[in-house]
Amino acid sequence: MNVCLALFLGLCVSLSYTYENVRMTPRLTQLNPGHGTFALPKEQPNAMFYLDTPDSLYIGGDEVLYHYNFSTWKEYSMNAKKDRCYEKAFCKNFVTYVTRYNGYLMACGTNAYSPACWRLVGESFEKISASWAEQLSPRYPGFNYNILKTGSEIYSTIPKQSNNPASTMKATFRRLYGKEPFRFTGGNLLKNPLFVKSLVVEGEQEMENRIFLFFMDDNSERRTTDKRVPMIARMCKEEKGSEKPDDRNMFSTALKSRLLCGNPEGQYYNFLQDIYFLQSQDLVYGLFTNPWNHSAVCSYKTEDIELVFNTSDLFESTKKDLKIRPGQCRSELTPQETAEEAKNHPELVDWIWPSRNRTVFQTLAYYRKLVVDEITAVNKEIHRVIIVATDNGTLHKIVEQVDGPMNVLEIEPFNKTSKILYLDLDLSNREQRVLYVGSAHEFSKIRLDDCRAYNKSCTDCVLSKDPYCGWYGGECQSILNNRTNSFPNLTLDDCELKSETLPQKGSLSPRPNENKVLPRSVYYVTCPAESKQATYWWTYGDNLKESCTPQNGKCDLLFDNIKAPGEYRCMEEEGAKQRMVTEYKFTVENSSWRMRNSWLVALVIPVCITLYSHMTPPARS
Ligand SMILES: *[C@@H]1O[C@H](CO)[C@@H](O)[C@H](O)[C@H]1NC(C)=O
Ligand SMILES: *[C@@H]1O[C@H](CO)[C@@H](O)[C@H](O)[C@H]1NC(C)=O
Ligand SMILES: *[C@@H]1O[C@H](CO)[C@@H](O)[C@H](O)[C@H]1NC(C)=O
Ligand SMILES: *[C@@H]1O[C@H](CO)[C@@H](O)[C@H](O)[C@H]1NC(C)=O
Ligand SMILES: *[C@@H]1O[C@H](CO)[C@@H](O)[C@H](O)[C@H]1NC(C)=O
Ligand SMILES: *[C@@H]1O[C@H](CO)[C@@H](O)[C@H](O)[C@H]1NC(C)=O
Repeated sequence: MNVCLALFLGLCVSLSYTYENVRMTPRLTQLNPGHGTFALPKEQPNAMFYLDTPDSLYIGGDEVLYHYNFSTWKEYSMNAKKDRCYEKAFCKNFVTYVTRYNGYLMACGTNAYSPACWRLVGESFEKISASWAEQLSPRYPGFNYNILKTGSEIYSTIPKQSNNPASTMKATFRRLYGKEPFRFTGGNLLKNPLFVKSLVVEGEQEMENRIFLFFMDDNSERRTTDKRVPMIARMCKEEKGSEKPDDRNMFSTALKSRLLCGNPEGQYYNFLQDIYFLQSQDLVYGLFTNPWNHSAVCSYKTEDIELVFNTSDLFESTKKDLKIRPGQCRSELTPQETAEEAKNHPELVDWIWPSRNRTVFQTLAYYRKLVVDEITAVNKEIHRVIIVATDNGTLHKIVEQVDGPMNVLEIEPFNKTSKILYLDLDLSNREQRVLYVGSAHEFSKIRLDDCRAYNKSCTDCVLSKDPYCGWYGGECQSILNNRTNSFPNLTLDDCELKSETLPQKGSLSPRPNENKVLPRSVYYVTCPAESKQATYWWTYGDNLKESCTPQNGKCDLLFDNIKAPGEYRCMEEEGAKQRMVTEYKFTVENSSWRMRNSWLVALVIPVCITLYSHMTPPARS
């Protein structure tokens, strides 16, 4: 019976391990690494974050805007004018957008269901009377929208306010501020969109600058049964509009296609959560989930995306012999025929497949946001590092490696576990790589090259596979700061050659030669087992081998009677490499009750009694 159960459990474990690649489990967990974690003056459930400069942060909240210069808080009250407000729950000013425009700091908010923007003049905020201001904030927090600020231009998907609440506004993406005309998307481009992200991809000439808009929308095709699908729309930012005067202000180059993420042989991930543009590599990273909230990341070269837009037919379009292809970026007006095809049939037949037609990784975890960095490790290999935010407030650091992705670290960025509302990477200083994370309670600066989680030994440092870290001068330290060349590229064997002393992580220190124990008494020995990607087991001599599932980062071996004195070793295997973690040696004392070594008994008896009762086989009836 017990054997059956053990077999069955073993099968379960091995099944779940093949499904969820063990390398996607965070190898280690680091609590609150805190290179500057601070609490907001007051909880802000709708907090929005704007980092003006690396030492100047604005946080918008409910009727308030905070400024923090990383030493002092300043608080601006941002009250709504309440005279004409009917939606009681929203009769406040929720600050939803902060940016710099024309040299001023600008803050926009819901303003009691009547959105408005203010600019900071001296020490006070002045209301901006321009009509575009009402399209930079939604009427209530939680409304889905997207704002793109690029250079001196601002685009938004927030519909114009209308006095007629019954009027149904078709969703558009439009330029609100900057170069006129204020071009907008028309016709059939957006049906029932949920906006995720927008970005600008620069071409060699200004004329070739494109806007990519990412969203979820209703599926208009019959090729699959999915109701909602991830989409990408693409338009030429500097286009001149259609020859047809009526449509002159409309984007005449806007087309869209379906964005896919999955593996040809496996499942597809149909819900787009987030997008990050790794500009240095012209790579778009997408974070997707499936109906079970499992996640996958896919990457797309902008060139591959362009190629599909350059070559695909338009869905349900019959005109295939147009002189000018729809979607081409040109410095002249778009011929009317071409513009009408784009307007009437904006969807491509061909889909956008991910690079190598595969996911970068997939996992059972539920991720909501991502950022991506690139780093040259000490072995000169270039690694991409994907930081994802889980649904419950932790970050995972996932490194793309030659032999596949690996989840090297879980970071709990806050003191108070809380949903991550903001995640961004500071690109202004390439020697630092600072990650900014915000919640309703706290804001935290985390250095990606923080190596303290692996600083126990050379082996720890090398096994961590963290490309920002290297073992140098007896310490696991950051390879940034121009010292890269002095770092040796160590392997595990190099670590061992340096006759490293074994890490002493447990509270009971292993003493290979000393432990004398009494016969007929219960003991346990413990071994630090921190890596969630390693397997651990105990050996006795050459014969006994007992596998161990770590609990709370430890592997305990319990034995009721030292029948066989000798050496007990705790072994670890990770990445096809075995090592001994700790070793205990026991000899049995004569039966006289000596208190020597009683420390072991005193420490373990309470635990052992509980453990032992669980391990006793049930009595047979
Ligand atoms: C987080 O906890 C640490 C240790 O308890 C404390 O020193 C620090 O001030 C706390 N930070 C915040 C933002 O609460
Ligand atoms: C932050 O602002 C306060 C008040 O304006 C000022 O006294 C202080 O010097 C500033 N600190 C830094 C680090 O800029
Ligand atoms: C997935 O997550 C959403 C919250 O974002 C939740 O409402 C939903 O129930 C989850 N689905 C499953 C299958 O767990
Ligand atoms: C797409 O077409 C444009 C204009 O014809 C051209 O400049 C660009 O190189 C093409 N890109 C790809 C990837 O084919
Ligand atoms: C990716 O796979 C799909 C379906 O198997 C196929 O139609 C498509 O051509 C592939 N794309 C690439 C770039 O290999
Ligand atoms: C987050 O959720 C995962 C699985 O749902 C769980 O294993 C993990 O412990 C949770 N972390 C926190 C900080 O709650």
